[in-house]
Amino acid sequence: MANFNEKFLDLKESYLFSEVAKRVSAFQQSNPEKSVIRLGIGDVTLPLGKTVVQALHSAADEMGVAESFRGYGPEQGYDFLREAIQSHYSTFGVKLDTDEIFVSDGAKSDTGNITDLFSKDNTVMIPDPVYPVYVDTNTMNDRNIVYINGTAENDFLPMPDRSVHADIIYICSPNNPTGACYNRAQLREWVDYALENDAVILFDSAYECFISDSGLPHSIYETEGAERCAVEFCSLSKTAGFTGTRCGYTVVPKAITSKSSDGREMSLNKMWNRRQCTKFNGVPYIVQRAAAAVFSEDGMKEAKAMIAHYMENAKIIADTMNDLGIRYTGGINSPYIWFECPFGMDSWQFFDFLLEKAGVVGTPGAGFGMNGNNWFRLTAFNNKENTVEAMNRFRSILKK
Ligand code: MLT
Repeated sequence: MANFNEKFLDLKESYLFSEVAKRVSAFQQSNPEKSVIRLGIGDVTLPLGKTVVQALHSAADEMGVAESFRGYGPEQGYDFLREAIQSHYSTFGVKLDTDEIFVSDGAKSDTGNITDLFSKDNTVMIPDPVYPVYVDTNTMNDRNIVYINGTAENDFLPMPDRSVHADIIYICSPNNPTGACYNRAQLREWVDYALENDAVILFDSAYECFISDSGLPHSIYETEGAERCAVEFCSLSKTAGFTGTRCGYTVVPKAITSKSSDGREMSLNKMWNRRQCTKFNGVPYIVQRAAAAVFSEDGMKEAKAMIAHYMENAKIIADTMNDLGIRYTGGINSPYIWFECPFGMDSWQFFDFLLEKAGVVGTPGAGFGMNGNNWFRLTAFNNKENTVEAMNRFRSILKK
């Protein structure tokens, strides 16, 4: 029998959202009469837009006809989609070559898979709190992790500490779970730090479409020099309701190189291409047609309408926090509201309290790191009726 990777012993037994789902299911089994409202995992509830569905249908029809049938596609994605993504970037003033864009099945897989390109000896800098995939995947790979603290004092936007060296830096902006979003000056500092340290920034912009403040950057490539040190991950999951349809994209600029321990240089773009060709067969043609439709004029209008709907829910949650005098972040440039647990509870205690007393599911901040121990996340991705009802229940248990 093969020996297993002992680093798995350092992981929590379950992935955060699996643990939450397990507890909710146990609660429902013992309380079948209680109605449960889910504001936990950031899973969308609105159906795909009309334009996207039409594209899925016509691509399915193409697949049923010999003349237009397609087998294996390019591992990097079809040109029609890479070009659509390229034009989307140009709306932020970012110029990319299509061969710097790699279509994928989502940002979760790619932020984990990218670790294949880097030596185990690298030091990885990860914000705390943050999306747990970064810590879990680097733990599996046995890398040294240094944490940078996101706290209420720095508005959950940790900045580089020049006395600490890192080779790989994860940044998620707008942040999951806190909803905090870096501004241009702050990203400038991060890019400068990365260039000074010969480090690579892994920039997760999965929530960029929720940015409503026109002064905030949507892409790290809006910062000069980032094309020499940053890889960016984005996804259509939250932009256009693709959590079940699966499509995202990763930008690996050709200007980034990385060195081996004896000083030989490799292009990260070429390495990622090599990795994808070996381990990935590409996203289905039908899904790529649907994804391209998101970037059409009508597709974008539909996506924006969905985002507006979710942001109305975010406001309902944020208004509740304001009325109850609870400290929170997010909800403006992000579908997440991150708040301090009431009654001095820790986040898992508050999770149980909220579920038992109100039948509302959220995500305990501890699942995103130590600094989340007394914080809690709610998402705006349910429908309006459920969000209003959840907040009524929330108010009633908090007022007692
Ligand atoms: C979340 O709830 O944090 C997200 O749904 C996770 C994800 O996108 O994988």
